[in-house]
Amino acid sequence: MPMDASMTSETTPSSWRKFPIKQQPTYPDQAQLESIELALSKLPPLVFAQEIRDLKQHLAEISAGRGFLLQGGDCAESFADFGANRIRDTFKVLLQMAIVLTFGGQRPVTKIARVAGQFAKPRSADLEEVDGVSLPSYRGDIINGASFDEAARIPDPQRMLEAYHQSAATLNLLRAFAQGGLADLHQVNRWNMGFARANPATERYLQMSERIEEALQFMEVCGIKSATAPSIRETQLFTSHEALLLNYEEALCRIDSFTGKRYNCSSHFVWIGERTRQLDHAHIEFFKQIENPVGVKIGPTTTADELIKLIDALNPDNEAGRLTLITRMGADILADKLPALIRKVQAEGRNVVWSSDPMHGNTVKASSGYKTRQFDDILRELRQFFAVHKAEGSFAGGIHLEMTGENVTECTGGAYQISDSDLGQRYLTQCDPRLNADQVLELAYLMADILKEAKVEQV
Ligand code: PEP
Ligand code: CO
Repeated sequence: MPMDASMTSETTPSSWRKFPIKQQPTYPDQAQLESIELALSKLPPLVFAQEIRDLKQHLAEISAGRGFLLQGGDCAESFADFGANRIRDTFKVLLQMAIVLTFGGQRPVTKIARVAGQFAKPRSADLEEVDGVSLPSYRGDIINGASFDEAARIPDPQRMLEAYHQSAATLNLLRAFAQGGLADLHQVNRWNMGFARANPATERYLQMSERIEEALQFMEVCGIKSATAPSIRETQLFTSHEALLLNYEEALCRIDSFTGKRYNCSSHFVWIGERTRQLDHAHIEFFKQIENPVGVKIGPTTTADELIKLIDALNPDNEAGRLTLITRMGADILADKLPALIRKVQAEGRNVVWSSDPMHGNTVKASSGYKTRQFDDILRELRQFFAVHKAEGSFAGGIHLEMTGENVTECTGGAYQISDSDLGQRYLTQCDPRLNADQVLELAYLMADILKEAKVEQV
């Protein structure tokens, strides 16, 4: 990867330290924490400023209705599950979904993975209690260990270095996959169609895949083929995570020598979670200091006035592509709450990308005790998101999913009709339940139809 040697970390965006902050660990050894922050600040950036600017340009196009954003990946990455096959499988399923969406929506799809940094998790309680024993909650592998013992739960700054190195290795492999032939359109269209066998609409799905293949053959006859056209052979995959642990995020900031501006080089895109977006708190302050495109999660209690203040704090110049609003309301609530927010943003002329996270507002506890999400609730929130935007004359710009390329049983429903009692079979997530590869592809085909409809109105 091209790395500009003159990128330095001479200035650090440390102003967040003066503000109140939520969801942070208390490190027992401050001196050790500082020495690790210093070490991180001297390591090479994980991504390059020009790539970050490219992504902002993609998002500017999306905000104008000329593209679509697909963002997805694990709820939380883990040190124990780190391995090439998992990275490959997530890459493959993201790409496959992107191709179906591109074909269905007839718009370019920008892919951002939740990967190479998605290690810190906000928690609803500071303490976790099991059989009368109370310990600090697990906050993600970058902070402490998941196992329920006292030593594992002590925050350890050394974990930030491990997260950095895992992110670097992950990015290295993703860049190789993106450019080394794995992303070739011909291959992608032939991958896993397993879900189709169990689905009553099998025939339709296979037809679409055949049409994609035909389109590729037609282009080949016209001379546009893998051997000569990088756009057939290669792809671009951006990275993202929730920038929750600000000690890590600050240490990865660099000044770009071309523009003199500060970028958070831990990732191309970072977002603020629903629990840490208070206007007068540290996360908003930190995000003001960086040039990256950023996202903010918008939950069901957000009012229109609050939203405008948030937008103005994060994007004071109303720059296209800078800000993505990721709504996560829940399938029963979205249709009630979203119209007023869209109208306010339109009335005030603010430039944003609207994306839908249909996962986090639809989490339920199954009778088996597992945290789960129903495929139909996820689909229902997505459908409503598109319907509301269409009704308001606004662009539904993207989706944000918790998903994996693995064959897990974490979300119920889908063509294979995973039931509550199946959840125990392969419930592997570190945190929230993810769609598995079959469910993701099924959703992609359903979404392709939704996008096709949305397109007619938006042109
Ligand atoms: C997440 O995206 O994993 C998450 C915690 O989301 P939210 O902040 O919307 O709850
Ligand atoms: Co989550």
